[in-house]
Amino acid sequence: MNAVTAASASADDKLLSMRLTAITHAAEETSFFEFRPVSGEVPRFTAGSHIDLHLPNGLIRQYSLTNSQDERHRFVVGVKKDAKSRGGSAYMIEQLRVGTVLQVGGPRNNFPLNETASHSVLIAGGIGITPMFSMMARLEGLGASWELYFAVRRRGELVMPDMLAAYGDKIHLHVDEEAGGLIDLAAIVAHAPRSSHLYCCGPAPMLDSFEAATKSWPYGEAHVEHFTSLTPVASEGGYTVELRRSGITITVAEGQTILEAVRAAGVDVPSSCEQGVCGSCETRVLEGVPDHRDMILSPAEQEANDTMMICCSGCKGDRLVLDI
Ligand code: FES
Repeated sequence: MNAVTAASASADDKLLSMRLTAITHAAEETSFFEFRPVSGEVPRFTAGSHIDLHLPNGLIRQYSLTNSQDERHRFVVGVKKDAKSRGGSAYMIEQLRVGTVLQVGGPRNNFPLNETASHSVLIAGGIGITPMFSMMARLEGLGASWELYFAVRRRGELVMPDMLAAYGDKIHLHVDEEAGGLIDLAAIVAHAPRSSHLYCCGPAPMLDSFEAATKSWPYGEAHVEHFTSLTPVASEGGYTVELRRSGITITVAEGQTILEAVRAAGVDVPSSCEQGVCGSCETRVLEGVPDHRDMILSPAEQEANDTMMICCSGCKGDRLVLDI
């Protein structure tokens, strides 16, 4: 995982009005959605970035960009209808219509490519393939050495198979049903040249296997993208938070997050996922020790305590001072 920079954390402050201009079937229950700005160009982004879609039903959802970072006229995201959808993917697939204008935050990149790596190994499971399209386009553009492993349960779940086929033998497909089992991540990692950078995006069990298989890989060279958090948010409360710029001190009550307490005090701060995976609420820590619960900051960054995600992280002592 990689930290968001101060610049990327503030990218969400400005929302862009974008029109849904095309929906393309990509696989079983999966579509690509193309959004174009109502006026002007899209902000520059890098492969691995995601955007926040502010849906007309009031939900805000993060989706990886699939298109090339060289494009300035559009954003394209891939969405699979999730059987356990809380109203994001089901709404997108079933109700969102071409012509709809919505607000878009970001882009923000918590999953950037190391463009100087001698070799890149991309590993995707299911809809986790979406950021890889943008990464493959970038690596190809750079003339870099790379390969992709893509695992799905059934052949019908292969996303944009024609686009993948165009990359020839750089693509390794694995269909569980046909192979009689799951993809062997340990073997893929063992096979990768030691100087490779490895990237994984997929369902939680796949990320767990990847993290186990790359345990001995130098930190910073094995990257994962989380879209849901595995860690409960800190809601123990019982401490105070001074909002230095706002000139107020608040108490975070039991059952509350810092973000909720800040909002209750009438202070507006950016947020999106509210589970520590998007980076939009990253806040500078001026004093005190946070209880980090996010999936974005590296262990070294968490230890440095320079910033924290206030939607999910708490306080190890009885007081924090934040740059809000
Ligand atoms: S709102 Fe997404 S990390 Fe806090």
